[in-house]
Amino acid sequence: MKHLLISALSALVIGASALASPAMAAESGESHVEDIDFSFEGPFGTFDQQQLRRGFQVYREVCSACHGLRYVAFRTLADQGGPMMDPAWVRAYAAEFTVMDKETGEERPGKETDHFPFISGMGMGPDLSLMAKARAGFHGPYGLGINQFFRGIGGPEYIYSVLTGYTGEEKEEAGSYFYGNHTFPGGWIAMPPPLSEDLIEYEDGTPATVEQMAQDVAAYLMWTAEPKLESRKRWGFVAVLMLAVLSTLLYLTNKKLWAPHKGKKFDL
Ligand code: HEC
Repeated sequence: MKHLLISALSALVIGASALASPAMAAESGESHVEDIDFSFEGPFGTFDQQQLRRGFQVYREVCSACHGLRYVAFRTLADQGGPMMDPAWVRAYAAEFTVMDKETGEERPGKETDHFPFISGMGMGPDLSLMAKARAGFHGPYGLGINQFFRGIGGPEYIYSVLTGYTGEEKEEAGSYFYGNHTFPGGWIAMPPPLSEDLIEYEDGTPATVEQMAQDVAAYLMWTAEPKLESRKRWGFVAVLMLAVLSTLLYLTNKKLWAPHKGKKFDL
């Protein structure tokens, strides 16, 4: 009994420290990623529509100068569960872009069924459509995903941390400029600090601090990477519920089937 108690206790302590240690590792390690409570985390998390709208505004007015969103169709901006922009607005917005028509091979104004452009070239950054998933972190002890469950996938946090992690240092190397950053691997990034206090004026009146803009655009990029997050979670929940009901029924059936034979002694 005493042994059992001791081993149970030590298992608890080990378990607790395993949960806590990735946070400590992140703080002491080279790449610093801050943990943020986004609305879409956890089994019932949903996107905050106002935040997605603000994040889209940040992308539109700042990031789109250097980053494309090639996998995102304009029309999804009006979808349920997304920023839910007005469809007429989306149509007008798409028309501001010039796209190459795949059938005629000629240039024409964009339509809502077209995608955001792919942007490349000197000084331009990588496409951001899937960045929030490509840079997922927080895997937790032995890759069990325990931290992902409790703290989110870590990709939006990484984006937030890159945007707010500038040290203020600059250096030039072979004609290129690099900027000191606590989060970007290696500590130097080729992206000049894109955000500064009151850089944009939010349509909903929210004060545009660097932290606010970074969180909003990170949430928006989580949506571009996984627009169906909410329905996936909903169906996941339904599936778990169905499995639970099914398991109970099977258990009861099994019990009933074997009931006549239980406790009987057989002569062998
Ligand atoms: C002046 C152009 C420019 C602007 C504006 C800009 N970026 Fe970048 N961004 C870059 C470049 C260049 C890189 C590649 C950096 C490197 O590899 O060192 C980059 C890289 C990134 C990365 C990738 C980090 C990684 O792990 O690979 C993220 C995320 C990012 N930018 C997000 C944003 C967001 C969000 C905005 C808007 C708030 C933004 N950027 C605005 C040029 C820009």
